[in-house]
Amino acid sequence: MFSKFPLFQNHLDLAHQYWKAIIQPGDTVIDATCGNGHDTLELALLTLGDEMKPGRLLAFDCQQTAIDQAKTLLAEKLPEGQLSRIEFILGCHSVWPEDIAQGSVRAIVYNLGYLPGGDKSLTTQTATTLESIKKALPLLMKGGMICVACYPGHAEGKIEEEAILELVKGLNAKSWSVCHHRWLNRQNAPSLLVIQAAI
Ligand SMILES: C[S@@+](CC[C@H](N)C(=O)[O-])C[C@H]1O[C@@H](n2cnc3c(N)ncnc32)[C@H](O)[C@@H]1O
Repeated sequence: MFSKFPLFQNHLDLAHQYWKAIIQPGDTVIDATCGNGHDTLELALLTLGDEMKPGRLLAFDCQQTAIDQAKTLLAEKLPEGQLSRIEFILGCHSVWPEDIAQGSVRAIVYNLGYLPGGDKSLTTQTATTLESIKKALPLLMKGGMICVACYPGHAEGKIEEEAILELVKGLNAKSWSVCHHRWLNRQNAPSLLVIQAAI
């Protein structure tokens, strides 16, 4: 994609660079908000690997429409045979499947807000997002990462971002590195939060 900015154009570009830096074929990763599947696609290309290094990718969304749209995109863009290896979960990301062991996940990513082109009232909610992030922390392996794209430009998104930042400010600095990227010269721009577990 053409960009006027050689480092990164926006919060999603930046997020993808973090993912590329740490995710390896064979890893277990989770897309907590799969939506139309653009982020799931990036994660699949980094994670799924081949038969020698079969990664595990779980993709959550609470809307069947989102999962259907994601599957359409992924069927078109992924190499043959990879779509069937992604575990789509229709449900809320505040409940993780029991078979995900603590300390086993390389990356858990959130792209908050509502489904682009969908019902704007079905947006992520502060309470369930906080619950999800709290439960996601112990799932991370050493050096693993949670990445959260926040959208303070709409009312619920602003409350949600503030609540998440309040939560993560309290994480012990010996165990967690917490960094928040905000564009200071763009009004109400999305921001990116990165939480990394110590190695
Ligand atoms: C901004 S969209 C995600 C965009 C997506 N990552 C992409 O690349 O196209 C946010 C998604 O979160 C989903 N969502 C909202 N609340 C959720 C919840 N509690 N659990 C899981 N998904 C949720 C929405 O249905 C919506 O599809």
